Amino acid sequence: MENSFLSSDETDLKSDFISACRNEHHSQVPVWFMRQAGRSLPEYKKIRGEGSILEAASDPERAAQITLQPVERYGVDAAILFSDIMVPVHSIDFGVEIQPGIGPVVENPFKSIEDLKRLRALEPEVDVPYVGETIKILSRECPVPIIGFAGAPFTVASYLIEGKPSRSLKKTKALMEKEPHIWDLLMNKLSEITISSLNHQIESGASAIQLFDSWAGLIDPKSYEQKVFPYSKKVLSSIDNSLVPKIHFGVGTQPILHLIAAAGADVVGIDSKTPIDVAREKLGDEIAIQGNLDPEICLESIEVVEEAVSKILTLNNNNFGHIFNLGHGVLPNTDPEILSRVVEMVHSHKLPESKNG
Ligand code: CP3
Repeated sequence: MENSFLSSDETDLKSDFISACRNEHHSQVPVWFMRQAGRSLPEYKKIRGEGSILEAASDPERAAQITLQPVERYGVDAAILFSDIMVPVHSIDFGVEIQPGIGPVVENPFKSIEDLKRLRALEPEVDVPYVGETIKILSRECPVPIIGFAGAPFTVASYLIEGKPSRSLKKTKALMEKEPHIWDLLMNKLSEITISSLNHQIESGASAIQLFDSWAGLIDPKSYEQKVFPYSKKVLSSIDNSLVPKIHFGVGTQPILHLIAAAGADVVGIDSKTPIDVAREKLGDEIAIQGNLDPEICLESIEVVEEAVSKILTLNNNNFGHIFNLGHGVLPNTDPEILSRVVEMVHSHKLPESKNG
């Protein structure tokens, strides 16, 4: 593994991002943005090409270049692989497409036990060799740690069942409640696919991983605990955190934050509705927190953005376990100048000399 970034007490390549994930001493608050690759960058639109994002992501040279664009423009402390949470299920031919401006669309959504046959095991070297190749190129060219990622079984299941983006998740909730056996089989299959995908990314050189359970907050806490948590835990606990730190993120997770951590995270990604001090009260001081500038605020004036950034840094109270990020992905109409200013501000905030202040 060439892109092997170590935490601050090792001698090799040091990274503030990895140190913060591990709640270790470092001098500058690290920052990156979810969905930083693509979307709002004009240089992305230039090389993105026609066709689906799934095609763009399957060309290693282009995917590596897109991954590097935000690192070069913003000076962020980590690069997130240009790919998508639907890549593994697309690659095993479940029939998933991603429509621009809409999101994942499934031609024949998951309905019954018969559909389990369409979810065979993922063989990364055969099904998604381009993911490994992209990471290998980045391991040579990327100056900062590479974050590999996957969709959590629940969020991916919701797309397969609903067939298109949905806020009510009606069909998903119905299957979960009325067909517990099929739900368990489906979630187990998706867990295995997720584990294979993440391990392949780590073996190829990813220095951290993030599990995106974007829609975990759309179900009630009891259902989360019984029907979702065990599978995310299975995924995260199958990854050795001595190899890479593990980030676990979802939106609307304030009531289940302790479970997001207990699933096996080194870092809990919080949305913009959960103030950092509230999150820390629930989680304690040992675990790192990632977040949580409101992506909508990034559409406002620079003064409004600066105030919001300062507020987050103040609420964090110089805790070393903080990675600055948005509370969800970069919105497509965000001005890149705003994000550059956010990085500059976060980097100019000085942390104390030692952990004890
Ligand atoms: O973070 C990054 O910049 C790296 C790449 C990345 C993409 N998708 C690229 C992408 C990551 C980490 C994702 C994760 C992802 N994909 C999530 C979890 C994060 C979240 O936002 O909650 C989800 C739910 C998806 C599914 C998905 N893919 C949606 C809802 C969309 C939006 C459709 C649109 O056009 O806005 C996509 C498409 C997509 N994935 C784009 C990009 C750059 C934009 C479309 C394009 O260029 O064609």
